[in-house]
Amino acid sequence: MDDCDIFYESFGSGPALVLLHGFPLDRTIWRPQAEELSKKYRVITPDLRGHGLSGAPEGVYSMDLYARDLNAVLDSIGVRAIILGGLSMGGYVAFAFYRLFKERVHGLILVDTKADADTPEARARREEQALSVLRNGSGEIAGQLIGRMFTEKTLRVNPVLAERVRRMMESTSPVGIAGALRGMAERPDSTPLLPSIKVPTLVIAGEEDPITPVSDAWRMVGMIPGSELAVVPGAAHLTSLEKPDEVSGAIRRFLEGIPKG
Ligand code: MLT
Repeated sequence: MDDCDIFYESFGSGPALVLLHGFPLDRTIWRPQAEELSKKYRVITPDLRGHGLSGAPEGVYSMDLYARDLNAVLDSIGVRAIILGGLSMGGYVAFAFYRLFKERVHGLILVDTKADADTPEARARREEQALSVLRNGSGEIAGQLIGRMFTEKTLRVNPVLAERVRRMMESTSPVGIAGALRGMAERPDSTPLLPSIKVPTLVIAGEEDPITPVSDAWRMVGMIPGSELAVVPGAAHLTSLEKPDEVSGAIRRFLEGIPKG
């Protein structure tokens, strides 16, 4: 996009699989899946604006804006058809992308995400968080979120992983975090879209996710025709890093079942 450079990585070759990270993270949450799945697919992992190595201009980052950023990246590298996956906020962006550019989407993978819009209370909370991050920096929100990304057990037995993710969040720019929070606050309810999704869809949910509970995943699967659910035991919100092999395996099996062409 003209106002913002979007950084992405591309691994392997074959049918294109785009994986979008959640908030306030970056493309590296998909590194294990990129390593595994790039044996057969071209795995593209962008940094959404405001995150990772992408630019972080001032403004409200609507889910449509993120979707347009992705569309521009795909145009620039000449990729037409994609399987699109997104974790949490990445899933909200996947819904927006499907609404705007559905001709490009040949499959959807919705990971630890939900279709609903924010409640008025959640919207107000996001604005408070945005103001606080702009005032005090990204450390506070990183501290609040880290305990919800992983199960207690993972936090205990894998402090190195937790520390890496905390640092990822802390290094996300305050302007980027505020833009994302304000964009998520104004996202539309995607529930009405669900019955009209016409592409193969996999929903993945961490069994102990406190942010987007498994019940949200069941509801989406009930409304998206022909969709399937993979519940990941022993995982909270950031399943791609907490249970990388299980998530890669679920995606691989799903991709193998999608008719080619
Ligand atoms: C995310 O993980 O992307 C966010 O927690 C989603 C949200 O805040 O709604």
